[in-house]
Amino acid sequence: MAKLWGGRFDGKNEAWIDAFGASIPFDQQLAKQDITGSLAHVNMLGKTGIITKEEAQQISAGLKILAKKAANHELVFTIENEDIHLNLEKMLHDEIGPVAGKLHTARSRNDQVATDMHLYLKEHIHEIIEKVQHFRTVLVDKAEEHVETIMPGYTHLQHAQPISFGHHLMAYYGMLTRDQARLEESIKRVDISPLGCSALAGTTFPIDRQMTADELGFADLYMNSLDGVSDRDFILEFLSNSSILMMHLSRFCEEIILWCSHEFKFVELTDTFSTGSSIMPQKKNPDMAELIRGKSGRVFGDLIGLLTVIKGLPLAYNKDLQEDKEGMFDTVHTVATSLDIMAGMIATMKVNTQTMHDATEKDFSNATELADYLATKGIPFRQAHEIVGKLVLACTQKGIYLQDVPLEEYQAINPVIEADIYDTLASKTAVIRRHSLGGTGFDQVKKQIQLAKEKL
Ligand code: ARG
Repeated sequence: MAKLWGGRFDGKNEAWIDAFGASIPFDQQLAKQDITGSLAHVNMLGKTGIITKEEAQQISAGLKILAKKAANHELVFTIENEDIHLNLEKMLHDEIGPVAGKLHTARSRNDQVATDMHLYLKEHIHEIIEKVQHFRTVLVDKAEEHVETIMPGYTHLQHAQPISFGHHLMAYYGMLTRDQARLEESIKRVDISPLGCSALAGTTFPIDRQMTADELGFADLYMNSLDGVSDRDFILEFLSNSSILMMHLSRFCEEIILWCSHEFKFVELTDTFSTGSSIMPQKKNPDMAELIRGKSGRVFGDLIGLLTVIKGLPLAYNKDLQEDKEGMFDTVHTVATSLDIMAGMIATMKVNTQTMHDATEKDFSNATELADYLATKGIPFRQAHEIVGKLVLACTQKGIYLQDVPLEEYQAINPVIEADIYDTLASKTAVIRRHSLGGTGFDQVKKQIQLAKEKL
């Protein structure tokens, strides 16, 4: 079959080599953007008189037929036509005849594909932002339900100090808020039109780049044609922001997986977000959380993959750049579905508040309370730390906890200790008293939630 670029070739094509070079199996996802870009380009060609108004209208009408067919999934793509641009141009030719050949005046596939990618990413970043926003709402709602749910706070995965479960959830809210801000901020670097940069050097035709940029809704234009056709850092930035976001989801999933375990039993996922085992009848596995943790790996891979593809490329376009697509599509899909799953999983998750609270009763996570108590009674904190440390050791040997130590023993250790120590040692008191800004005290958690709700 004759190639659209076949003029200077007289050797024959080999199907398996064509298949290796083709991007149509994956870039057909850009059909809508490619047609939108072509419509803007042909309108401009008509208005500037580069082609006649009638020609522009004919081409435009043909493109609209293709747009309708694309929306109805009626387009049939072929490997022989290599990529989405050549497939559509061929189809346009079939629709309207030889005038279709005028569409590519003053344009190259290099600025065309870059335009498609900018349009695609802009649209999908907006979609992902909406999903992050929704997940943040779910987090705030869940946190509000659990301001007064006490759980062990961990450092080194060892019980450290009791905290509010609402506070724990709001930590993820903070991370997701920054993820959303990063995505929003990045849009201005996606919202730039490369259309009209042509192959690499611009064009001799009197095109109007501002006109196409305006029609396509771009806020800005690449001011250097070499940069415009070879820039992929807007994709790298998206992959990088997505990697950070997925890393946050992955950490959260790791905690959910731990909390679902027999040892923790802090939460239970609904059946919808769990799966069973084909051999062990009792199993209820947190597969969705595990998968999101796993899928973070492929998103990191997409980022590292594209960085590696681009790092050695001389300006301007090189075919290597065709490798920018699958990773981007994959990340868009992975991040979007992961966010949907997260939102549903957290919204419906059952929290075993009693088990969480009980976990703070049979431990030494109130040791800081005792040390602080001594310090407020005038004992230097370092000395207080030493006293409590020794007491913890003695308790461990006896198999008891700080709240089980009789008052006489406390007073023998130091007469400043009074009966109010038992209330001080209660985990709920420990949480409530942490009033410092951003701390886990109920008032502070409520304040975080209040501020979040004002912003959402
Ligand atoms: N399919 C190509 C890509 O995705 C389109 C640009 C081709 N340009 C070229 N000069 N071969 O990168």
